[in-house]
Amino acid sequence: MGPEEEIKILDDICLTLGEGDNAAIVGASGSGKTTLLGLLAGLDLPTRGQITLAGQRLDTLDEEARAGLRAHHVGFVFQNFHLLPSLTAEENVALPLELTGRDDPARVREVLEMVGLSKRRRHYPRQLSGGEQQRVALARAYVSRPRILFADEPTGSLDHNTGQIIGELLFELNRNNGTTLILVTHDSSLAHRCQQVFHLDGGRLHVMASAL
Ligand SMILES: Nc1ncnc2c1ncn2[C@@H]1O[C@H](COP(=O)(O)OP(=O)(O)O)[C@@H](O)[C@H]1O
Ligand SMILES: [Mg+2]
Repeated sequence: MGPEEEIKILDDICLTLGEGDNAAIVGASGSGKTTLLGLLAGLDLPTRGQITLAGQRLDTLDEEARAGLRAHHVGFVFQNFHLLPSLTAEENVALPLELTGRDDPARVREVLEMVGLSKRRRHYPRQLSGGEQQRVALARAYVSRPRILFADEPTGSLDHNTGQIIGELLFELNRNNGTTLILVTHDSSLAHRCQQVFHLDGGRLHVMASAL
């Protein structure tokens, strides 16, 4: 792509979150929320600028080093679950541990219990409802006890009540386990429960509310 076709998505963003904090990012569709989350989580690299995660400068690391950092510190919940269809619920949840040589069936059972899915652990994604699939996705994001949990519109494809249950689980992990929580959401009830709410508009991030 030539320089004349470059599109600036994020512009002059400065954001600091402390360990155990929770924050919401809101903004119109296409405003760059997913892009920002991907950068903060080390899934993408910025064209310019610095990103520090768990004391490490992400923008200076290569893909392999970023993957290692993600595997140890980051959990990511995608809007559309992103479960592997050929694996059962428990196999999906076990994956992050297996990929880092930390096989731990007891831990897998524990997180499935936390999200209330012990009885469905042998089921495949297609046999589960949207809310159940999102709970599996949350268990998978949390199984390796990440310090930071990112959730991109985690309730976006769920009905209101099911969304409330997922929201409750996210805040429980933040409150009880000190996991830093950063979520992108269109759900104002979820956003308003956060200590800080940021609005992304025109590539810039504005503080909408802060209880810090
Ligand atoms: N891989 C990509 N290549 C080019 N443009 C992209 C890519 N991903 C997203 N974009 C563009 O970046 C902008 C922000 O997208 P996104 O971060 O997905 O917004 P949001 O999550 O707020 O809806 C949009 O204009 C989108 O078209
Ligand atoms: Mg998005």
